[in-house]
Amino acid sequence: MAKIKVGLLGSLNEHKFKKMASDRNDWLLKGDDILINLNSEVNQYANYLEPKNIDVIVRRILSENSDYITLVLKSEHGEPLPMFRAGQYVAATIMLDGKYYTRPFVLTSNPALSKDGEWRITLSKNKDDLAIDYFFSKILIGEKITMSAPFGDFYYNPIRDEKRVLFLTNSNGIIQAYAMAQAIANNVDNYYLTILYCEKREINLLFKDEFKDLTSICDKIKIKYFLSMEEEANNEFIGIDQIKDELNDTKASIFISGDESLLKYLDKELEKINLPKKYIRYNNYLPAINAYKVNKYRLTLYINDEKKELTCYNNKTIMQSIEESGIYIPSKCRVGSCGFCRSELVAGEVKVVNDKRNGVDKKYNYIHPCATYPMSDVEIVVR
Ligand code: FES
Repeated sequence: MAKIKVGLLGSLNEHKFKKMASDRNDWLLKGDDILINLNSEVNQYANYLEPKNIDVIVRRILSENSDYITLVLKSEHGEPLPMFRAGQYVAATIMLDGKYYTRPFVLTSNPALSKDGEWRITLSKNKDDLAIDYFFSKILIGEKITMSAPFGDFYYNPIRDEKRVLFLTNSNGIIQAYAMAQAIANNVDNYYLTILYCEKREINLLFKDEFKDLTSICDKIKIKYFLSMEEEANNEFIGIDQIKDELNDTKASIFISGDESLLKYLDKELEKINLPKKYIRYNNYLPAINAYKVNKYRLTLYINDEKKELTCYNNKTIMQSIEESGIYIPSKCRVGSCGFCRSELVAGEVKVVNDKRNGVDKKYNYIHPCATYPMSDVEIVVR
């Protein structure tokens, strides 16, 4: 094995490092016995920024078009809600027929309104998802919903991103683009945003009037529509030529949010211009899995010192099977990126999709059940 030379400075650092544990114990012993005030101003502010759960009340339900609604949510007594970065999500948890369901939703309000205790979320119709269907068609004004703090890293960051952003989108992805445009128009963020928005028909466009207003009051925001099924409109799909035209040899960060087919297609298109990866940001999504034959397996779950036996299927994530059995395990993003549902796989074969685990978790067999499909009987421990 090669010998590594450690210089004087290095050996001093090494000595300091080795002494850290004993130094810490000395400091603890020297400290006074007064308990730390957990309700200090700093703690109160930290709880406001990063609360575990927040209860909000549905105050209005706005119909955006036949497939989308916006829920206007207010804090219970008008108190401020945590600030968020435009593009972030909150996870809403509800109980239906005695089972807990958690779903993430993009915040679509002007972030500055959080101070007045208001958030808005926009969601699309989905009859196949019991929880989304509840939020879309059954929720009532005055109803209370439990929310997580805002989370997610798909937002503009002036340190990481260029002063100009090209946002390529279709389908639900426009919700994030709208949130980002609002933050610019309301002086919460400061950069130039050009949105290329692809839809089938004009009637499917979301926030068309709102974008008209935003672009008329703020020259930092531009939007171009690509309507693939309208005869007289620009019916091209967003491709590398449109992207090159927009970039026009200038530097820009490219944000991409939309359905799986758009993301895969643009990934290939962008390879043609060899743009360094740091300029391209994808919103996370859960890739569809093709299970030609549905197989049923046994799922053994260790949670809160209890052992549960459930059924799971190769065409459903492990999280879906747990949720359908009525057992609650923590979740937020449900696409494998936040790590909130991290669990240990102790036995069985699985297929991980959208693998965002760190190297240590991979090595020691930790999985994110929200982005993992069983391929045999499996045993997991929820940590
Ligand atoms: S809920 Fe985010 S990784 Fe599973």
